[in-house]
Formats: sequence, structure tokens, C-alpha cells
Amino acid sequence: MAKDYVSIRVSTLRGDQKIDFDAYLKIDEKWILYLRQGDSFEGTRLDRLKAKKLKKMYIATDDENKYRDYMQKNIDMAYDDKSGKDIKTRSEIIQGAQQNNAEDVFEKPESAEAYGAAKEASTKYVDFLIKNNDAVKSIIALPNLDQSIAHHGVTVSTLSVALAEQLKMFDPKQRQLLALGGLLHDFGHFDSPLKIARPMKDFSKEDLEIYKRHPIEGAQKVKDKNHMDLAVTTIIHQHEEKCDGSGPLGFLEPQIDPMALVTGACNAIDRSMTYEGNSREQVVKKMMVEELGKFPLQYIQTLGNILKTI
Ligand SMILES: [Fe+2]
Ligand SMILES: [Fe+2]
Repeated sequence: MAKDYVSIRVSTLRGDQKIDFDAYLKIDEKWILYLRQGDSFEGTRLDRLKAKKLKKMYIATDDENKYRDYMQKNIDMAYDDKSGKDIKTRSEIIQGAQQNNAEDVFEKPESAEAYGAAKEASTKYVDFLIKNNDAVKSIIALPNLDQSIAHHGVTVSTLSVALAEQLKMFDPKQRQLLALGGLLHDFGHFDSPLKIARPMKDFSKEDLEIYKRHPIEGAQKVKDKNHMDLAVTTIIHQHEEKCDGSGPLGFLEPQIDPMALVTGACNAIDRSMTYEGNSREQVVKKMMVEELGKFPLQYIQTLGNILKTI
């Protein structure tokens, strides 16, 4: 009998742990064994997949439980401060797990379970970032090789928590929602025909119009999802607002939700790095000059200091 296969996300396959299942690629309707049971996804193997923008791999349906165990073991180990693993490996796994949580909600926004898992993980994530000195640094340093919206979400979420921590903003509950909102802020881009992974100067007038609508469309799509928190849907709705009123809704600084504004500043920074192709050094300089007045100066200066340490 022919084997049955089920897809798994590449973002869950990080770290140095050996897999106890075979992982396949699907090419031209054929199953190609890519990584054997007993191997690990360390280093170049994973980078090669990501560079090809490959998001899914496959396992035999019979191996599903083994895959779930692998994933859980990996995540538990990465969050365990006493596991003895270095911060780089832990960050890689946790970054992948957060990316997976974002992808899950993007694909199944109607699932209260997917949202609940992402929300629960956000508490652990904030804790990890705040308790481990080099966590922010090693998460941000991971390149977004496939320029994915989910990876961008993890970066924005991370910078938002780091900024809130530095400026002593928000209580722990709010920080959890800030982290979750940052992760999901670009829900409006998911499934959009617009190619957003390129510099804004290459956008046509029509492209820009579509782009401008993504926060409103994103908010529209989650309006009836009662399992989502208002703080999160507000971030989805308002994260492109600017202090000078130049955002899609035209809100001025006092009208913008404080968590959405923090997310917005971090989003502008990562958009500039990931999609405009600017280096970390260039980004802050550019923001100070070209985007003067769009975000509180203190946010940009603080984010500049955070980026300098990477
Ligand atoms: Fe956005
Ligand atoms: Fe964004």
C-alpha cells in the first residue's frame, strides 16, 4: 500500500536535536527523502530549505506522533534555562516555534485553539526575552532568509518587548498581548496577492493603494473572531498609524493606541531591514531623517541602541 504523508512546517525543524522520523520534500508530485531519522536540521541544511522559500516538508502519517514529541521536546528544552544549551540554539528553536504559532493563526484564524496556543506561548516568550541577556540579540540576528511575514512578526514582537522593557512600559499582561499583537500584526498581508517583500520604491501606485489597506482589511477579517483579544485586533488595525497623521487611518499621536504605536515603530524598523534591504546601521539613521515626526523620537533612539548591540 502507498504511504500517506502529512505536511509539517519547516519553521518547527530547528536546533541540534536528532529527528526520529524521515522528512520528505514533495517535488513534481514525487516524495524525495531529504533528511533521515537520526539526522538533525543543523546549519546549512535548514538554510538551504529556507533560501528556497520552502515552508512545508512532509512526514509519513504514521510518524505524526513522533514528530509532535520531537517538536514538544525541542521547545521544552529551548525554554528551559537549565538545559545547558547555548542561547543561539535555544533562540533558533524558539524563533521557529513563534513563527510556527504565527503561521498557525494566519492559516486558521477561526481556530480558538491555534490562537490560544499562540497566546500561551507569548507569556513564555516575553519571559525568555527578559530573563536571558542575549536573547533579544540572538533572535534578531537570525536572518529572515525567506522574507516571511511570520518571521517579520517574530522580529517585530521581539523588538516591541525589548522597547517596552527599556522604557518600562506596560504591565506583564499587556506585554503578553503586545508580544502576541506584534507576532500577528500583519495578518492583513497573509493571503494577499501583493508582493510585499520588496522596497517600497518599487511599488506601483495601485500596489501602494492595496498596501495601505492591509491594516483595515486585516482588522475586518478578525472582527468576528471573538477568541481574539481587543488589544491584538487593535494592533492589527492601527500598526501603520504615524504620529503625524500620515497612516492609513489618519490618526494623530494621541489617538493611536500605545501598544499599536510601539508595534508600529518596531515594524518600521524591521520593514526597513528586511524588505527595504537596509543594514542595521543605516536603518536608525534613515528613520531619524526620513521618518522624523512619525514615531516618538525616544522609541527610535532606544531601538537604535538595541540594534547597536547586535
Ligand atoms: Fe503592516
Ligand atoms: Fe509589518
